[in-house]
Amino acid sequence: MPRPWYETIFDERYPELFGPIERDPEEEVARIVDLVPIPAGAFVVDLGCGRGRHAIPLSRRGFRVTGVDLSEKMLRLARERAGREKVYVEWVCEDMREFLRPDAFDACLSLFTSFGYFGDEENEKVLRNVGKSLKPGGTLLLDLRNAQKGLAGEEDHEATVTVPSGQLRLCVRFDRATGRARAEHELTRADGIRISSAFDVRIYSEEELEAMIERAGMRIRSIHGSLDGAPFTRGAERMVVIARRG
Ligand SMILES: C[S@@+](CC[C@H](N)C(=O)[O-])C[C@H]1O[C@@H](n2cnc3c(N)ncnc32)[C@H](O)[C@@H]1O
Repeated sequence: MPRPWYETIFDERYPELFGPIERDPEEEVARIVDLVPIPAGAFVVDLGCGRGRHAIPLSRRGFRVTGVDLSEKMLRLARERAGREKVYVEWVCEDMREFLRPDAFDACLSLFTSFGYFGDEENEKVLRNVGKSLKPGGTLLLDLRNAQKGLAGEEDHEATVTVPSGQLRLCVRFDRATGRARAEHELTRADGIRISSAFDVRIYSEEELEAMIERAGMRIRSIHGSLDGAPFTRGAERMVVIARRG
């Protein structure tokens, strides 16, 4: 049986394939702490922390940060950087479907589409774990693709851009029947060598998320169109959901 895509694509090639569409993480962290009222010294978990783009700056700001990721390779990049920069983060190699630490965190962050990788039941299990792992009153922030854009056909695109290591072809297709988006990235390096990877992620509407989040013991407080706090509209760049454990 082939391994699922999310167990194979997050490796050393990821920064080359997905780095070009990432925003400046220091700026994103500044926006996040504006959007989410996280008390100084709070316990924060970054679920699907990758190479620590946000976990490391959050720790530098004085939060006690746990970074959870399934990929040992991404975590190795994170550990190496944290070591170089002398920043402490607790790195945990675990599946987000299993990671559970009752009443431990003031905030849980899921950034850059790190939610929705599984079937509906397992995606909901992730939220149930979050609901239990947050302290009462703790906050969840989900930074997701905008489902309304997908349904309107506005997520679908294909483009080739020039990046430092070559030509990067980006292709996104949203399947209305399954509610899933498939994003393929193919890099042709200057020497002609090609590398590629593909994402397959369930994109939830506000209504679907609201119901799942409530079943997980949390309630949506606000929805924004980006981490900058822009209004959430049909054409918004992202869907940033902020929920609180009751
Ligand atoms: C799109 S990347 C985003 C990483 C990071 N949040 C960022 O903004 O750079 C998603 C991350 O989720 C991790 N991941 C995938 N499946 C996972 C799982 N089942 N449990 C925990 N982490 C997982 C991947 O290894 C990857 O590092």
